[in-house]
Parts: sequence; structure tokens; C-alpha cells
Amino acid sequence: MDVLETNKNVYKRWAANKLEAFTANINDLLVEISNPKHPSNAEIGKIKGIMESYNIVFYEFSKPNSENTKNSLIRLLNSLEITDFAQDSKSDANGVTPIGVNPDSNSEEEYIPYTDKSLNWHTDGYYNQADETIYSWLLHCSRSALNGGVNSFIDHEIAYILFNELTNKINSLMSQDAYIIPENKKNGRKEIKSYVFSYNNPYKKLHMKFTMREKNIIWNQNDNEAIQILKSIIENNNDYKIKYKLKPNQGVITNNVIHSRTAFTNDINHHRLIYRIRSKQRINL
Ligand SMILES: [Fe+2]
Repeated sequence: MDVLETNKNVYKRWAANKLEAFTANINDLLVEISNPKHPSNAEIGKIKGIMESYNIVFYEFSKPNSENTKNSLIRLLNSLEITDFAQDSKSDANGVTPIGVNPDSNSEEEYIPYTDKSLNWHTDGYYNQADETIYSWLLHCSRSALNGGVNSFIDHEIAYILFNELTNKINSLMSQDAYIIPENKKNGRKEIKSYVFSYNNPYKKLHMKFTMREKNIIWNQNDNEAIQILKSIIENNNDYKIKYKLKPNQGVITNNVIHSRTAFTNDINHHRLIYRIRSKQRINL
């Protein structure tokens, strides 16, 4: 709910309800899907209900998935009316990207998660042009790491609320030039300027573009104080973080909430493999 456009009391009630309803208990956020080929209406209804409250939902395919997992993931998202999948250089024709440790991955390349290193807080696609905006994504665990590979999540609506509790500088983060991602001559990507928070989208819902990384991003110096406050909330406020290590056959679907990943180690029997699907549609209910 837009703090600048909404009646103060209405905003306050929404914010208080949102914080009050928060849970980090995975059992409250997890939906069992008994047949990955055909999620039932009840299961889809449960997913939508959790998504509406938290912008994040976990699921588990309760039977070992005999069928093609990737097809099940596409079907699951289709059941949530998500059909427009973003492609990247590593995705298949449907937009499914396997994420594992790739020994060939070039650490000089931009934004690539195909290593066993930790990934700092970010939302997906903060370096995308406006017409490639990522509104939702799914991560599905096919195999987990021996140690580590734990994800943390913060609902971006909660980050927004906590920010507004501390300062009235939200305008700084809603400006169209809150940060610049410089042009990348190597891959031909043009310079990007963007907001951090915006309601200016077809859904009129809060969308966030953010990275904690210092590399390849230039923050607007006029907004420095606001940015530092936001970064400090994301790093230091542990009251509203969800931490979870996905197990095989489990996944998470979000409206592109802020997330991070710890470093991990594999061994011969535990070679982490995650499938990722990103979409230019929000899971809108
Ligand atoms: Fe990500």
C-alpha cells in the first residue's frame, strides 16, 4: 500500500496487519502437492492464500517426482496464471534454468549465481530494462548441497514498511534514478537507471529492485542516507527474515522478494541443483 497516496490510518492499519501476520515458521508457509502432474484446486487455493499474505510460498512434491520435474514446475506456475517466462543465456526453451556449480563460470561475468559462493541480498532482475522487469520467480530444489546453500528471504513489502517507520525519505527510493547500472560493453547491455520501490506497474503493487552488491552499481548520492537506512534494515533486522534450506522436491515461489544465499559445499552424493524460473508476471490474486 502506497504510503504517499493512501490515507494515513488506512496505511497504518495495513502496515500493522502485515507485520502482525508475519511468520518465519515454514510449516505455515508450505503447501504439500500430492501429484506434481496435477496440483489440485485445494492445493492451488492454499498457495494463492499464502502468497497473498506473504509474497512467498513454499511447496513440496510429496511423492517422488517420477515425471519430468521441469514440466511440473511450468504446470504449477501455469496454475497460478503465470505464463510469461523470462529467458536468459542458460535457460531452456521454456525458461527453466538449472543452477549448479559450473566450473566454467567466469567470475568476471555479471550477476551469475553458478558458483558455491554466497549471494548477497538482492531482488532478481535489478539490472533489467523496464520491459524485462521480473515480477515473480520460482526456485525448485532437485538436489541439495552437503553443507550450506541456505536461502534467506525478506518480503519487500515488510522492508518498505520498516523503512517508512524510520524515515520519511521514501521519495528518494521511488525516484527513477535511485541507482545506475553502467553499460556493459562485453554483453551489450545498455546503462540502466531505476527506482528501488515503485507502484507504477500494471498491478499497482509494490515492486522492488535492489542489490546489496557494491560492484557495478552507482547509487544516487542525493539518496545516500535513504539507501544506508534500507541496507541497514535488510542486514540487521532479523525479526522478519525467513531462513530455509530447500530439500529435494521442495521449492519456493515469490513475488520477487529480497533474498540471499549462503555459500555451500558439495560432495559426490550432494551436488546442489536448483531449477529457477523467472516471470515478467506477478502472481496476482
Ligand atoms: Fe536471485
